[in-house]
Amino acid sequence: MSVKTEVLSCLEQNRGKDISGESLAQQLGVSRAAVWKAINSLKQQGYPIESVTNRGYRLLESSDILSEEGIAPFLNGDAASAKVVVFDEIDSTNMEAKRRAANGDKNPIIIVADQQSMGRGRFGRSFYSPQGCGIYMSMLIYPTQDQLSQATMFTTAAAVAVCRAISSLSEVDPKIKWVNDIYVDSKKVCGILSEAVFDMENGVIGSIVVGIGINFKNGGELPKEIADIAGTVFGNDPTTSRNRLTAQVANEFFEILKNIQSHEFLKEYRERSMLLGEEIVYSRGEEKYAAVAEDIDDDGALVVRFEDGGIEALRSGEVSVRPKAMAASLPSPIENG
Ligand code: BTN
Repeated sequence: MSVKTEVLSCLEQNRGKDISGESLAQQLGVSRAAVWKAINSLKQQGYPIESVTNRGYRLLESSDILSEEGIAPFLNGDAASAKVVVFDEIDSTNMEAKRRAANGDKNPIIIVADQQSMGRGRFGRSFYSPQGCGIYMSMLIYPTQDQLSQATMFTTAAAVAVCRAISSLSEVDPKIKWVNDIYVDSKKVCGILSEAVFDMENGVIGSIVVGIGINFKNGGELPKEIADIAGTVFGNDPTTSRNRLTAQVANEFFEILKNIQSHEFLKEYRERSMLLGEEIVYSRGEEKYAAVAEDIDDDGALVVRFEDGGIEALRSGEVSVRPKAMAASLPSPIENG
């Protein structure tokens, strides 16, 4: 690790607090001049660091530059063994994770980007990923056989992990729209895309990429296609940094993963559901059906009752809360064939 990297790591761990040049130098076993040089270089990179005579240096609370040094020290539990890689810009963190999986590296990796040029969403859609205001992260994991038998639960687990992380670092109370969207104040603030990576040699799933996109804070204007539905977790007043939230999401996800077979996290998933008890519209291909969301079953499927009384456990597809005027105009699935 370079002196600059080590200085940044210390500043991130003491964010908002003064830390003297002397104590930094002692901790890192380098000269005060080397610390000073590192601080200057970090300032030039854009880090908001205050230097106060006789008190030392302070990384301002408002600092929000994504970095390995800002994320790694806050990883704990199983997440702490993951390597963290941060990009200023990349096509897609999911794509990068899959490239790394293809290279045969068998260690878990957390790939994070400040901006994506080709962020991917479900159903082949794109995921808007502007610079400086979001968290675009992919966790590349190598599950055990037992965990792999739960592959369909990874997205569900990630949704709970994101909610836990946000509420542990703020007063925000996120809700989950089955199966992979997180909402705050009725606006989508996070989407999750999990993908399996097949082992070329034997054709079985070798690893899983869990990609998470969080609209962390307000940035520029949203594209008009999503302006009505998308929001941000913190608006203009984040109570934490993107680094801390990234680390906390990973901590919570790896914690759930340890015991994913128990499905214990589904209790929290149900409690955070914004659909249960609601009248919804379920889209299957081009068709739309009116139903009521009754439960999330023990496999994470959404149990719905259609207008004709038929009950189905949905495992994929899209649902939305139904505007009241819409119900009568929609068929039951039988009528749709
Ligand atoms: C969705 O809402 O349809 C899912 C969006 C998933 C977006 C994240 S951002 C990080 C990771 N990299 C991608 O290209 N996609 C996921």
